[in-house]
Amino acid sequence: MRSSAMRDLMEITARPEVISLAGGLPDTSTFPPESFAAQMTRIAQESSAEALQYGPTEGFARTKDVICEVMGAEGMHPEVEDVLVTTGGQQALDLVAKTLLDPGDVVVAEGPTYPGAVPVFCSYEADTRQVSIDAEGMRIDALLETLDALEREGRRPKFIYSVPTFQNPGGVTMSLQRRRRLVEIARERELLILEDNPYGMLRYEGDPLPSLYALDGGDYVLYTGTFSKILSPGIRVGWLCAPPPVMEKVVLGKQAADLCTSTLTQYFVGEFFAEGRWREYIADVAAIYRQRRDAMLDALERFFPEEATWSRPQGGLFVWATLPDYIDTTDLLAKALRENVAFVPGEAAFVGGLGKTSMRLNFSAQTEDEIREGVRRIGRVIGEQLDLYRTITGEHRIPPAAPEAGPAGDVLPLRRAGRRRT
Ligand SMILES: Cc1ncc(COP(=O)(O)O)c(C=O)c1O
Repeated sequence: MRSSAMRDLMEITARPEVISLAGGLPDTSTFPPESFAAQMTRIAQESSAEALQYGPTEGFARTKDVICEVMGAEGMHPEVEDVLVTTGGQQALDLVAKTLLDPGDVVVAEGPTYPGAVPVFCSYEADTRQVSIDAEGMRIDALLETLDALEREGRRPKFIYSVPTFQNPGGVTMSLQRRRRLVEIARERELLILEDNPYGMLRYEGDPLPSLYALDGGDYVLYTGTFSKILSPGIRVGWLCAPPPVMEKVVLGKQAADLCTSTLTQYFVGEFFAEGRWREYIADVAAIYRQRRDAMLDALERFFPEEATWSRPQGGLFVWATLPDYIDTTDLLAKALRENVAFVPGEAAFVGGLGKTSMRLNFSAQTEDEIREGVRRIGRVIGEQLDLYRTITGEHRIPPAAPEAGPAGDVLPLRRAGRRRT
């Protein structure tokens, strides 16, 4: 078992004086309380007994219809029988791992990968091999190298886990060419992919790209989605799409885990979508997050040192920043917390110790002013580290962040956009 860095941090970051750029929290204050009250009242008046009862393990047909509608908006058209309602997307990851992995089995994931997936793979004792990413997502050349190396060891991964769109934590999106190639590789080598897509609908610029699931048609790609970032994480409703042979076993795994996903919150999902304004709501929150992203990118230009690099996400909730390689972001976090600001150290996104010079910064949960102030404080702590380095070494030229090759280069080297120092 391994703890989730984000969960550990939540206790500290819940303190009101802390500006947390650590969590992946959507801003639930954007949801109108009067709509929430009206929807829950309707449920109480019209469906009280059913909403308070157990439900089917697979989830309600009405929830699945909503899921098909949401996936349809992103160009995917699963069969209703291929959909399982889960207790958040997190449970979908857990159930797939529980179903497919025996101790020692190989999972291939991006490096960095979703920090919440690391404890899942560890708890099923997977041998997780991470493939580096760049501004176009998972590097296919590195993937092929990993797959070939595994083949030479006589091993096959049980699945390839990917967050191709607005990746958590990298903030990058896999290009269309790489998506096509990845799906092709899965078919050629008969490998399963688990595509995790919580953020696809939170796009702030650029054109949507087809999901891996859409490109593949659901033969080799399992897909997980969630209402957490487009409605509420508190309701704990997500889903998994998988072909029947996998789904059969996953359903048994879910029966053992929790019998069924909350009926009450599935009813809430049903009511919310029945109002037919869900696209407007997502457009509203996306407009807010776009401004917050811009505030964060501006603040990084202003307050982070020349030597730092970071991603420029077109959507989602995160920026991934990389510092000079003598700064350990886990140590830096301790210093940042003394300044009442938090981020997720990059190490949390790796299984085997990489990522020490990187950090994940969230821009959805704080106001623009708080984001600016948070980044300013982190920038100041980094500045102190740089000064210390200069004093100790007598060097005035600081080595730049993440060279193109070498171990640090595995941690998403991104060229910095033109600087605007004010
Ligand atoms: C990539 C990714 N997958 C899965 C999850 C889990 O989300 P939930 O369980 O709230 O649906 C998250 C949450 O942040 C995530 O970023």
